[in-house]
Amino acid sequence: MFKAALVLLSLFSATLSTPHIARDLRLHESRDDVPDGFTHNGPAAGDTPLRLRLALKQNDIEGLQDVLMDVSTPTSANYGKHLSLEEVNEYVTPKPETIAAVNAWLSENGLTAKTLSPAGDWLGFQTTVAQANRLFDADFSAFTHDATGETTIRTLAYSIPASLQGHLDLVHPTITFPNPLASKRPVSVIPRRSRPPSSNITSDAAPASCNTAITPSCVQELYGIPTTPATQSSNTLAVSGFIGQFANEADLTQFLKMFRPDIDASTTFTLQTLDGGSNPQSQSEAGLEADLDTQYTIGIATGVPTFFISVGDNTQDGDLDGFLDIINFLLAEDTPPQVLTTSYGQNENTISRSLAISLCNAYMQLGARGTSILFASGDGGVQGSQAPTICLPGQNFVPTFPSGCPFMTSVGATQNVNPEVAASFSSGGFSNYFATPAYQSAAKSAYLTGLGNTHSGKFNASGRGFPDVAALGVDVQIVNEGAVTSVEGTSCASPIFASVVALLNDQLIAAGKPPLGFLNPFLYSTGASALNSITSGSNEGCITEGFPAKAGWNPVTGLGTPNFAKLLAAVGL
Ligand SMILES: *[C@@H]1O[C@H](CO)[C@@H](O)[C@H](O)[C@H]1NC(C)=O
Ligand SMILES: *[C@@H]1O[C@H](CO)[C@@H](O)[C@H](O)[C@H]1NC(C)=O
Repeated sequence: MFKAALVLLSLFSATLSTPHIARDLRLHESRDDVPDGFTHNGPAAGDTPLRLRLALKQNDIEGLQDVLMDVSTPTSANYGKHLSLEEVNEYVTPKPETIAAVNAWLSENGLTAKTLSPAGDWLGFQTTVAQANRLFDADFSAFTHDATGETTIRTLAYSIPASLQGHLDLVHPTITFPNPLASKRPVSVIPRRSRPPSSNITSDAAPASCNTAITPSCVQELYGIPTTPATQSSNTLAVSGFIGQFANEADLTQFLKMFRPDIDASTTFTLQTLDGGSNPQSQSEAGLEADLDTQYTIGIATGVPTFFISVGDNTQDGDLDGFLDIINFLLAEDTPPQVLTTSYGQNENTISRSLAISLCNAYMQLGARGTSILFASGDGGVQGSQAPTICLPGQNFVPTFPSGCPFMTSVGATQNVNPEVAASFSSGGFSNYFATPAYQSAAKSAYLTGLGNTHSGKFNASGRGFPDVAALGVDVQIVNEGAVTSVEGTSCASPIFASVVALLNDQLIAAGKPPLGFLNPFLYSTGASALNSITSGSNEGCITEGFPAKAGWNPVTGLGTPNFAKLLAAVGL
């Protein structure tokens, strides 16, 4: 009897430990294979801690997209009427039924989640590999990055409960792989030796020395950028800094003394930090990217209050969590910066489509608040964000993220001042995730018509084309670790273009007008003729010459480089 009771008891507990409700899990996202450069090393230990994020379906993101276009299109009656945080949140905060479904699921599973965004559309919770495998019918495994030896825990597929379908956009990190090379050397900034002048032709705009060494004077002369200080203290410019890239104040001071002797050499940035970020000042910790980005904002956007935002690495997932966190950090501010420049990115195919859309929607929100968001397009030509990226003969071109997102402005690179030509590393092409936005469709069609059958099948002709604009990005002189260094990369171009936008905003605000906000509808309409179209060069890669730069928009240098006087007129000043 006693024995029988024991058996009964254990049967009973066996029944209890399996959920009483049948788990109805539906496949949500998967990837076909392990991304190039990673090796699958078998299942991760069940007790490994995992921090997961949930993206809840936003209330009316299509509605917000309409509003963003309305407030960003120069011909609209609502042009410049940017939204407050509360107004944006009305579109973004998940519907009550979504919140209820997710909360019910969390409490069924004994999970406590933390809100990660001001609209409450992102939640985070702590779990383990074993629990996550059960919750999402996943197979969290160890993947080693061959080049760096870094191990990351990911799954190639996951499912979500049927009760959460339509409420949960994605779980992260799951099928999106990090870019360990990028976190080692987040820049695509490449130090280079100086080379002999390509020509001795001098131009009215910039001296011939600018063909071998780009300084702030070269940039100012070539683009007609004023050197007089901005006047509006409410007008700010922010520079993103990620993972171990620290902006050095002594380098900045030395840079200003050498290249901007006309301004106060003690001019500096204001530091903001998140995710445990910091900005140590020892000379050996001065980052090339962070030095470049602060020197070519403070050194070009004369007098514009500039922030350096150092995003730390206590996010578990490196770049992409930081990408999301910095936007949510700025969205939470009452007055976010009017311009944000970021010189980081990765290949679009390393990121899940859902995560790419989610990040892109975060840019949409910040754009609706009135922030111009600029990113470097990448330095691998048509071959992706950084060369060398694997691109076998016959393989398709590799678009970069976030340049494919239609709610930000992607900046490619040029070189030389006379004539200014496309830089061969300037990433450009067409997204596989995002369709052509209406503001770009005429410019893109014109280019594709001219291109004919060239590279046909190697790119997605229906995708959003990038970059949108360009600026100088070769032989750029910076001070790093106390010495002048020449660098190249679209990393140089994004802060330069961002500085132009910040100076335009200064004059707009001084005239009682709103800042430019999301730039593209302006750039592709009234702004287009205020840019210098770049008509020679191409972005090689994948054993091809890449796309040729041609008059009008092109997927190497976009609509072109800035002409400050014409831009002032185009914005109505
Ligand atoms: C440029 O000028 C230098 C010095 O005047 C001269 O030695 C050199 O040959 C010139 N280069 C070209 C490409 O004309
Ligand atoms: C091409 O781009 C469109 C977006 O415009 C996308 O829906 C489609 O899936 C892409 N095709 C491929 C093969 O990636």
